[in-house]
Amino acid sequence: MIPDQWYVLMESKQVKEKPVGVTRMGEKLVFWRDDTGKASCLRDKCPHRGVELSKGQVVHGHIQCPFHGFEYDPSGKCVLIPANGRNASVPKAIRAQSYPTHEADGFIWVWWGDAPPDDLKPPRFFDDIDDSFAYATIHDLWDAHYSRAIENQLDVVHVPFVHRNTIGRGMGKLVDGPGIDWIDEDMFYVYAFNREDDGTPPQRPSQVPVPPTDREFKLEFIFPNLWQNYVSADVRIIVAFVPVDEEHTLFYLRFYQKFVRVPLLRDLVAWLSMPFNRRIAHQDRRVVETHQPQPSGLRIGEKMIQGDRPIVEYRRRREELIEAARQGPGKP
Ligand code: FES
Ligand SMILES: [Fe+2]
Repeated sequence: MIPDQWYVLMESKQVKEKPVGVTRMGEKLVFWRDDTGKASCLRDKCPHRGVELSKGQVVHGHIQCPFHGFEYDPSGKCVLIPANGRNASVPKAIRAQSYPTHEADGFIWVWWGDAPPDDLKPPRFFDDIDDSFAYATIHDLWDAHYSRAIENQLDVVHVPFVHRNTIGRGMGKLVDGPGIDWIDEDMFYVYAFNREDDGTPPQRPSQVPVPPTDREFKLEFIFPNLWQNYVSADVRIIVAFVPVDEEHTLFYLRFYQKFVRVPLLRDLVAWLSMPFNRRIAHQDRRVVETHQPQPSGLRIGEKMIQGDRPIVEYRRRREELIEAARQGPGKP
């Protein structure tokens, strides 16, 4: 996983005032809301004797360990040891590992890595998604590394095969390009140009129009774990690939629409699309879970073709970010 990044790790509606314990990024984490409703995240391990804080409760905006009642604020600082009395000072060394959070668009991001820089910018989302859209979400657990799950959603070669009886039915198998457009260092678009094989060779990526003039459709990716299928101005599919651990990825798969704007009906329309979206995702899951090895990388012995270019671009940038984090300030 790429350190020093904001990851979508929860949906807002999963976190209530009561603590909730989950596994994310290969660690046990606890989320809860303080008195102001702000979502907080700590490592789900009490520094006193190592039990899970998520089995405790929230008291005056602090999380109280279920074992001996130590209380921790959102920064992880221990603010009360009941057995020592309320007037006793608390040793600074008693501190739970805390993670900065940011909440927007119905998601909770967590800064995963070393201490964040003082000028930490909030995470980004797809900037034209707003309240004019209605959306529905499903959660889907894959036995796959999150990098493989992401690569699959950037793969324009697989569609006529994996989805031969759904979205890939009748789709051309020959892949021109594909077109790649880096918007900035953390975001790129992919344009697909699949067509029938008429005996001519695939067009090079430099020969396809970027952006295309005849369609709106594109795939968008924001590092480290957000993807959008820009179906049209009014229809989008967004996936947050939530790393559970090295072998499991949780999909928060959302369908957004604004072609129906009537209250209630707009939500119903979004929900009605979900069985189909789940079916497509499961066509992918069946194959992606079989990758060997699971975590991807630039040098894992795979024999890439021109049509795999979006995947190579993803791997290249992912490895750059991992290297940058490794060499970051104060690191060897
Ligand atoms: S283990 Fe948490 S207070 Fe003792
Ligand atoms: Fe797919």
